[in-house]
Amino acid sequence: MTVDQAAQEQAFTHARTFNKFTDRPVSDETLHQIYDLMRWGPTSMNTQPARYVFLRTHESRLRLLPALSPGNKDKTMAAPVTVIVALDTRFYDQLPTQFPAYDAKPMFEGNASLAESTAFRNGTLQGAYLIIAARMLGLDCGPMSGFDTDKVNAEFFPDGQWRANFLVNLGYGDPAGNRSRGPRLPFDTVAQLL
Ligand SMILES: Cc1cc2nc3c(=O)[nH]c(=O)nc-3n(C[C@H](O)[C@H](O)[C@H](O)COP(=O)(O)O)c2cc1C
Repeated sequence: MTVDQAAQEQAFTHARTFNKFTDRPVSDETLHQIYDLMRWGPTSMNTQPARYVFLRTHESRLRLLPALSPGNKDKTMAAPVTVIVALDTRFYDQLPTQFPAYDAKPMFEGNASLAESTAFRNGTLQGAYLIIAARMLGLDCGPMSGFDTDKVNAEFFPDGQWRANFLVNLGYGDPAGNRSRGPRLPFDTVAQLL
């Protein structure tokens, strides 16, 4: 079944990256709804390495502020919610319950480089699922990689098990803050049909 045009527009073609949000609050229930939708996105061996810290208060955002690049500070402080999309470096501890097909934990526990690439690849995918799920529930996102990862890790993840990947401002967008939209590369530039 192809979803209708309106759904495609809301998730992709009409969806924008937002720098400004209205005052409409985002409830904890809505954050749960976003997770309940996005968590069904696939990850390799069902590893689900992403972790999420929802900064819903001014005080929690103040802890993030020193790590943000200058252009990201004001809009992040003004957003209703900022999500730290992080990775759990010990994601494989969950595999015995999450991937019952066979015992995959030793494969990652004994191979730091495989664990790291798996966490980054799949955790980044999950961040993208979060953006699309939020849009499907009528919210808007402003993803950001302009921040000092070491500072965020030191402030929020001092024991080193979780690591920041990227940030997403979340709320109900105000188009007044939008930049003009860039185009997208055409199929022939980015794809090969073999
Ligand atoms: C992973 C990621 C990191 C980004 N980092 C920043 C950032 O640090 N600051 C910023 O202003 N925009 C940032 N952006 C926003 C992009 O520039 C924007 O999503 C892109 O130009 C597409 O805009 P559109 O969705 O309105 O078409 C980031 C986007 C993504 C997906």
